[in-house]
Amino acid sequence: MIPVCRLEDLPEGESVRIGTTPPTAVFRTDDGELYAIDDTCTHQDASLSEGWLEGCLVECPLHAASFDLRTGRPTSLPARRPVRTHRVTVEDGVVHVHVTAQEGTAA
Ligand code: FES
Repeated sequence: MIPVCRLEDLPEGESVRIGTTPPTAVFRTDDGELYAIDDTCTHQDASLSEGWLEGCLVECPLHAASFDLRTGRPTSLPARRPVRTHRVTVEDGVVHVHVTAQEGTAA
């Protein structure tokens, strides 16, 4: 479980990148929901935390593939592979990410 920031420091419609390996992007939607996915687009090397958030979708800033924050699946080309999703919790006003283990590694 990795602390990210205080909830009030992540306004609705904003995102933050954290330096996990690989990096993780944490989003707070306009509805106040929190989601975390791998930050690196599966098409090329772009940071999804720098993309455009629209509802539960984030659009990659490089070639405009969209990913569903709930599933990690791409909803438009050119990305074809999903990003991993990670569980997010808030404890005592602090946002935490529970990074999902990569395939082939221990949790
Ligand atoms: S790098 Fe994300 S769509 Fe190309």
